[in-house]
Amino acid sequence: MTQISPAPGPGARTAGPVGVALVGAGVISTQYLTALSAFPDVRVLAVADLDVARARAAADAHQVPQAGDVASVLAIPEVEIVVNLTIPAAHAEVAAAALAAGKHVYGEKPLALAPADGAKILAEAQSRGLRVGSAPDTFLGAGLQSAARALAAGAIGEPVSATAVTQGPGPEGWHPSPEFLYQYGAGPLFDIGPYYLTALVALFGPVTRVAATARQARARRVIGSGPRAGSEFTVDVPTHVHALLDFAGGPSASATFSFDASVPRRMIEITGTEGTLSLPDPNTFDGPLRIRAFGEEEWRDLPVTGTTAGRGIGVLDLARSIRGGTPHRASGELAQHVLELMSGVTDSAERHGFVELASGAPEVRILPDDWDPVTATLT
Ligand SMILES: NC(=O)c1ccc[n+]([C@@H]2O[C@H](COP(=O)([O-])OP(=O)(O)OC[C@H]3O[C@@H](n4cnc5c(N)ncnc54)[C@H](O)[C@@H]3O)[C@@H](O)[C@H]2O)c1
Repeated sequence: MTQISPAPGPGARTAGPVGVALVGAGVISTQYLTALSAFPDVRVLAVADLDVARARAAADAHQVPQAGDVASVLAIPEVEIVVNLTIPAAHAEVAAAALAAGKHVYGEKPLALAPADGAKILAEAQSRGLRVGSAPDTFLGAGLQSAARALAAGAIGEPVSATAVTQGPGPEGWHPSPEFLYQYGAGPLFDIGPYYLTALVALFGPVTRVAATARQARARRVIGSGPRAGSEFTVDVPTHVHALLDFAGGPSASATFSFDASVPRRMIEITGTEGTLSLPDPNTFDGPLRIRAFGEEEWRDLPVTGTTAGRGIGVLDLARSIRGGTPHRASGELAQHVLELMSGVTDSAERHGFVELASGAPEVRILPDDWDPVTATLT
């Protein structure tokens, strides 16, 4: 990694929209650029990538003024938050470079490949007075926030258990560079698991122990789209994982994460002492949210209110929290707990026993019902 001279820290700025730079101009960057460009409280100032032409094309497509390599973008003084959209193997390295340049960092999931790397990022940020945020931010969307409000209002009584399933044939059918999704740091557990596990931790609090089994159906897969369609690649990680989780607050959960299923299925249900809540796909920002009490024969729809502005609302909440001096919700600490949880699942599947988790997780405050990403609040 190129040496970067520290830029003036974000402490210098206390008002107005927050300057943001994206690092990583791949598939997911379009969603971030579209959402962030619509939020007046942030200003997207630059895009960086190892492939500078790709960064330039993404910047041009969204009227972002600057593009370049990582070092040049980190040297822009007005950039306060670096949004790290690189592949998982580069998350820790890019986060470290952003922090060294005096920037807050918000990264795509997972926070890092291993808990020790995630802990280093958090410690480095703390020592510099900087913040770490992390995807997923889907749990801040209307669907899951409405679920959180329903649970807080006692809609199903006391939560007892949860069942989560995410399965399908895997992403190599549509992603043009899917290799990283089958390497250490991805697979169904680390790539899709964060949506489900973050939702459960945000709703129930920290996990205390996990047990799991894991399998791999095929050692090689075939790219299904893009210029390299038809080429084979190697699968390095388990592609079918079953996990059991115990939460400190009392509930337990079972969760299945699979890229080995011909039938796509995505569900989370939470059962309480008075009924069951069916949550929306936690990889989305909207509903439906449904409830079925004991004795009822049909599901009933519950109201879904809140933002559906998409990936990037966690960055906006971070930006507003920096200005307001309040804790941000899609935090590095939450992502670190989820990373330890996923690592514990992997360890358990190898060791054939329960793995205890030491870390806690911060309480996630419910977003106000009228939280509006497209109204300017930072003047
Ligand atoms: N693709 C999706 O639908 C999706 C959805 C949600 C989250 N994510 C997450 O977003 C991240 C990126 O996924 P993607 O699908 O956009 O991947 P991608 O492979 O399409 O793009 C990654 C980009 O990062 C760049 N890059 C890699 N290492 C870098 C480094 N050290 N410095 C600068 N640039 C670097 C690559 O050149 C590439 O342009 C992953 O963490 C993934 O889990 C992806």
